[in-house]
Amino acid sequence: MKNSDALVLGIETSCDETAVGIVSGRKLLANVISSSVEEHARFGGVVPEIASRAHLEAMQSVIAQALSDAKVSIKDIDAFAVTAGPGLIGALLVGTSSAAGLAIALDKPLYGVNHLSAHIAVDSLNSDHKLDPAIALLVSGGHSSILQINDLTSDVKTLGSTIDDAAGEAFDKIARILELGFPGGPAIDLDAKSGNPKAIDFPRGLTLARDLIEHKYDFSFSGLKTAVARYLAKTPDHLRADVSASFQEAVVDVLLIKAIGAAKETGIDTLIIAGGVAANSRLRSLAQERATKADIQLRIPPMNLCTDNGAMVAALGSLAVTQGLAPSKLGFEANSSSGITTPIF
Ligand code: KG4
Ligand code: ZN
Repeated sequence: MKNSDALVLGIETSCDETAVGIVSGRKLLANVISSSVEEHARFGGVVPEIASRAHLEAMQSVIAQALSDAKVSIKDIDAFAVTAGPGLIGALLVGTSSAAGLAIALDKPLYGVNHLSAHIAVDSLNSDHKLDPAIALLVSGGHSSILQINDLTSDVKTLGSTIDDAAGEAFDKIARILELGFPGGPAIDLDAKSGNPKAIDFPRGLTLARDLIEHKYDFSFSGLKTAVARYLAKTPDHLRADVSASFQEAVVDVLLIKAIGAAKETGIDTLIIAGGVAANSRLRSLAQERATKADIQLRIPPMNLCTDNGAMVAALGSLAVTQGLAPSKLGFEANSSSGITTPIF
């Protein structure tokens, strides 16, 4: 099948969101999300078993709602797409089993897709610009990388990645220390709005000349985490909002130094920022400022399409259909740690 208007239904269950998106070609028709985040909050992080059960409970109604929003029937769907990794294995299996059941029953192709590639593919929705070549800054709860996307479904080169914590993980850990709750990213983003980003000069990991030799496009956030903890211990009368704002500034600054640097050095003048941390308001505004100065075209998906969703999975499935790629073989295995070099399973 090669059809640039194909109706594709995408299912995402890699973490705590049960999400279904429906697209027609590059047009987004429905994007429904049921989150179990509140069930995990008291544990300070996602509990895999709870997430898997929540996916099972929510799956049918989320699919039904998406079909109703898109005003289509399940029989109209031309192809199914589902996140096959990376993610929590039990959670992934709920999605892949559901999608396989639908594809078999309706005799339609099924694409197992990579969650990281899908975060970037969502940039293709509701517009007709060329997706690649581009440099991508992919920043989520589990990953932080700078990628050279020559072709999203066949040729992606990793220029650098984190050597310890992911950017979102750093937000979540610092939020816990600051008692701002889980997930930490949105909480710090909000708290930082009333703080001074210049109040504390936190370290920018792997930006010294000697680090750049081996780690030009790599990130490290563990030193920053230690610096924040030390600052809090020796400054009992600190202003929390100043800590939030200064921490956020340090993360965002270093992400952009390296991402803009990669775009300049490769001569690829398009930068896509994707993944949950791309919802950060300071990252969005500073990225625009620096991209404009460097004459780089910046693309960041709308905030609700940065954090995990089904539209991104449908978007990548739709790219695969449009490019005439072969569907996945039924029985493909979900892979909790798959890398971006396997965009389609
Ligand atoms: O992409 P995502 O929804 O799930 C993964 O694939 O990991 O990313 C979740 C991460 C969490 O660490 C969350 O704290 C972070 O994205 N995040 C943010 C913001 N919204 C979500 N980080 C900073 N600022 C935000 N506004
Ligand atoms: Zn994600």
